[in-house]
Amino acid sequence: MWRNAILVVLLLAGAAFSAEPVTPAKVGISNGLALTPPMGWSSWNNFAEDINEQLMIATIDAMASNGMHAAGYDYVNLDDGWQRYKGARKDHPLEADPIKFPHGIKYLSDYAHSKGMKLGIYSGPGQTTCAGYTGSEGHEKEDAALFASWGIDHLKYDSCCSHKDAPDEVVKSVFGTMSKALIATKRGIVLHACHCGWSNIWEWAPALGINQWRIGQDISDDFDYPGNREGYYFDVLDMLDRGVGLEKYAGPGHWNDYDMLIVGLDGKSKDLVGAGASNVEYRTHFSLWAMEDSPLLASADLRNLDSYTLETLTNKEVIALNQDPLGKPAHRVRSKDGLQVFAKEMADGSWAVALLNRGSTTEDITFSVHKDLSLPWTKYQVRDLWKHKDLGVYDIPYTAEVISHEAKIFRVTEVKDNK
Ligand code: GAL
Repeated sequence: MWRNAILVVLLLAGAAFSAEPVTPAKVGISNGLALTPPMGWSSWNNFAEDINEQLMIATIDAMASNGMHAAGYDYVNLDDGWQRYKGARKDHPLEADPIKFPHGIKYLSDYAHSKGMKLGIYSGPGQTTCAGYTGSEGHEKEDAALFASWGIDHLKYDSCCSHKDAPDEVVKSVFGTMSKALIATKRGIVLHACHCGWSNIWEWAPALGINQWRIGQDISDDFDYPGNREGYYFDVLDMLDRGVGLEKYAGPGHWNDYDMLIVGLDGKSKDLVGAGASNVEYRTHFSLWAMEDSPLLASADLRNLDSYTLETLTNKEVIALNQDPLGKPAHRVRSKDGLQVFAKEMADGSWAVALLNRGSTTEDITFSVHKDLSLPWTKYQVRDLWKHKDLGVYDIPYTAEVISHEAKIFRVTEVKDNK
């Protein structure tokens, strides 16, 4: 028996950090990274292609000084538009735009690292990326080595535009090729396989060493837009609904990605469509992304955040739900007439509960630790994670008044009888 156990351990150890072909379905490969959902900032939603060295340095500085880095945000991610050339990779090399990034990308990662942060970059498996820049097709090993030599810590590898209708086997192959190429660099680069939920990527991505994958099409700056804006975009509630049933695929090292946070965009993004959301709606969005263990990648202009937005993004008690080592996303345990209850199990035995009111009038929502969480507790403490306040000990179901589009977030902890 011990011999078998040792063999399994050796097999797993061999699979991790191995660039050799493996049978992912049986053993899987792993880069050992992202044991909790990645947190940071990404340039796309607010700036699209209008990115440059100054913006990146100022964003790193803002994160270092405004409390975001201290709250856990450490990735600063360049999205599409950092590349020098538009057009097919067969016609152009992959280089950084020397006008936008005069000191090159390594300069930026050195700067991020000097502040204790990390740098992310973007590419895709096609001849071009979504915005039409040179992609990585046929150059995966070379590009992975280039990114590693630049000190890159996170790669968003976007197949959305090049492989939208490709069969699963092809999508698996292109992501698997980049995953192995990154692992072979031994740098430790988190891999985001961006595929907009167009195949059941969550079923096989973890075994390919992929750390996060988008579950849906791009988010717009809307909380609840009727249908899909422009026939394509998902709003906050669409994305939340898309995640129902996918919770079981996420866990330490591999996460359902509900897309970048729209908190603080306020409908002013030059590129992203959407009318913006209210402060309450942005807070609800943030709370639920945290509950679902989605990566938390802010995307607003961090150089100009108002105090409410900053307070939303840096609520350590809500972030603690997202960064809990157990890594179990919330399940929607009840849904009736637009009133919903979400519950998330935590490593210390407590639970997080979200009471979401999707409707247009204020409503009371009740949850029961027995009926909703199937717990045998007789008494429990309720803590409000936005008020940062213990609300008391209860032995009956708890009822809260929830305004339109609000999610009240509580942490509930068992109180033993002898206490
Ligand atoms: C889209 C992706 C966006 C952004 C954009 C860049 O496919 O969903 O998040 O990365 O490409 O061109």
